[in-house]
Amino acid sequence: MTQEEGIWVVGYGSLIYKPPPHSTYCIPGLIYGFKRRFWQSSSDHRGTVESPGRVATLVPDPKSKVLAVSYYIPPDFVPQVTEYLNVREQDGYKACTVLTHLHPPQDLPLLAQERLDKLPIDVSTGKHTVESVVYIGTEDNGSYIGPEPIIDTARVIATNVGPSGSNYDYLKLLHDALNRMAAAMRCKLSDIEDTYLDNLFEAVQLTT
Ligand code: SIN
Repeated sequence: MTQEEGIWVVGYGSLIYKPPPHSTYCIPGLIYGFKRRFWQSSSDHRGTVESPGRVATLVPDPKSKVLAVSYYIPPDFVPQVTEYLNVREQDGYKACTVLTHLHPPQDLPLLAQERLDKLPIDVSTGKHTVESVVYIGTEDNGSYIGPEPIIDTARVIATNVGPSGSNYDYLKLLHDALNRMAAAMRCKLSDIEDTYLDNLFEAVQLTT
């Protein structure tokens, strides 16, 4: 997709509950080949340089998939939204491209449906797919923590606060939003992806 046609941005962390500006449609979708992990430290949003929090990143894993939200950004707003996201996601996140498998709701607006109808359909999932921009804290960035026991991550999340609010709120807003999305798809989050997020949320609540 060229910038003249607009772009799709897919969010799997804060972008799910705090969308980018100027999106025309937002459609749930799945990203295959990744798992969501709170292995990215945050000193600009949900913690400080002295006491960083933990935020979500995507970690490659061929057996996994994650529930996400895809936003369509029309051409006129691509430069503005790209600049906004590059600032918002600056603590170690890199703009990458992934293929998103879209799971539109039944009541999709006509214009959105027309845009979807132009996209290819994946033979294995039967879903429309679209190349989407995604911000990932890849393992080569300075804020990447790497594999961390859930209980340790939970302790960090339970205690940290940054300029965007508490680290607990980041996790709760994300967990709540994903559960609502899964319910709208008539399933549970753990039917779609692994139980990491549920386990982390439970561990944080036991910690507080
Ligand atoms: C995203 O939401 O897709 C990027 C990570 C974040 O801002 O939490």
